[in-house]
Amino acid sequence: MALKENKGGRLYEQVAGHITRMIEARTYRPGERIPSVREMSAQKRVSVTTVLQAYGLLESQGLIEARPQSGYYVRSRFSSAVPVPDTSSLQGDPTKVSIHELTLMVMKDLFNPNLIPLGAATPNSHLLPADKLNRILAALARKKSLESIKYDIPPGYKPLRIQIAQKSLKANAVINPDEIITTAGCIEAIDLCLRAVCKSGDTVAIESPTYFGILQSMESMGLKALEIPTHPSEGIHIDTLMFAVEQTPVKACLVISNYNNPLGSCIPDEKKKHLVSLLAGLDIPLIEVDISGELHFSDTRPSVCKAYDKKGLVLLCSSFSKTLCPGYRVGWVAAGRYQPKIEWLKFTSSLATATLPQMALAEYLQSGGYESHMRKVRRVYACNISNMYEAVIRHFPEGTRVSRPAGGFVLWIQMPEAIDSLILYKLALQAGITLSPGYLFSATRRYKNYIRLNASRWTDEIQQGVIRLGKIAHTLVNAL
Ligand SMILES: Cc1ncc(COP(=O)(O)O)c(C=O)c1O
Repeated sequence: MALKENKGGRLYEQVAGHITRMIEARTYRPGERIPSVREMSAQKRVSVTTVLQAYGLLESQGLIEARPQSGYYVRSRFSSAVPVPDTSSLQGDPTKVSIHELTLMVMKDLFNPNLIPLGAATPNSHLLPADKLNRILAALARKKSLESIKYDIPPGYKPLRIQIAQKSLKANAVINPDEIITTAGCIEAIDLCLRAVCKSGDTVAIESPTYFGILQSMESMGLKALEIPTHPSEGIHIDTLMFAVEQTPVKACLVISNYNNPLGSCIPDEKKKHLVSLLAGLDIPLIEVDISGELHFSDTRPSVCKAYDKKGLVLLCSSFSKTLCPGYRVGWVAAGRYQPKIEWLKFTSSLATATLPQMALAEYLQSGGYESHMRKVRRVYACNISNMYEAVIRHFPEGTRVSRPAGGFVLWIQMPEAIDSLILYKLALQAGITLSPGYLFSATRRYKNYIRLNASRWTDEIQQGVIRLGKIAHTLVNAL
């Protein structure tokens, strides 16, 4: 339909109004691309300049964003009326970690394929390039059969380490492939780092909340956790960390720098630089986990702390588990000055990382296609996070607070005090739904009324699951 200037406003305002209505009606959802400038100009029979003005207006209103060489996308919309979850307070003394019983119990349910999967933080398997990866792997097994079944001793498969070093440039880190050691997933990388810098009884400063796998590693090593308040968007509270390390000797600090699991926080780059320099001044190693750093919803990938490391004190851990293939079990650590020690620890603990998956990943990364895969994944996750966010604020009891992640695919939800997340967990299980109770994410069991939900998928079934969870949460509040 052609538009004309009329009382309804200038042409560009009419075009902007049209798009706004489409976004409100959810014809275009958060994370989705809207028509290109040329398409819109042809559709509305207005000039390209008019559409550019309209899109400029929508951008200034925060409704859409331009992504270079890609087009215009609907931005994720979080409600300013719904607060983010509280930032935890500093605990007094370091705590011995003991969460394994609860984790083991919950883990079995989280991976039960018959339940609605809101619990485990696994990526959306429909988005993973499984066919391509497996084709490459099968072809390599045939073509390089002897090489692929040999040990590939630490530091690991060189062509893959080169690809990882190249990928790190996007996070502003210049890493020599020889500094990298491949591991069985990110969790082995974390485990090796903790073993390299700590011994049983030592204290590690960690974000609160943090991923339970980290707590389990610490528990198995007999380490104590000093939980530092962590803001839902800006990450670890640096002043409090510095105050805490003055009072309590810590052997290391460990952060999930980009899109913390479960909180979604991402330490701003300037703050990362400050953190690295303060810790370097105290000679405290920083173990950095960046497993979700590539799942950013905006155009630019956040940096890693490692980018600011001048003393080799940052040990950067990551893997392909959130982006490509959790089951291949390939991760890595860029270990700075701890490289020789970690290489030795890797050698003594598991001898080598599986060869064939490393070869397949190296070839996949060399073959191109990774970036377009990631562009798609980011768009879908941005969209799914928005959808789940909206469903939670619509269906959960009043007073519920929800994180607003700018990347990744999990939501951290603080419900009214009356709700015990473990009771909610058990009732949800009976209704065929899994979730992760807040207790898992702290050594001090402080997140009683919190849960983590996985938003990597958004289907009718998942939506019904969230609505059902909201109803159960209401019954728990009303029971009081
Ligand atoms: C922060 C964080 N670190 C490590 C892991 C484990 O990664 P991997 O499967 O590569 O061992 C996860 C998985 O959820 C995670 O969220």
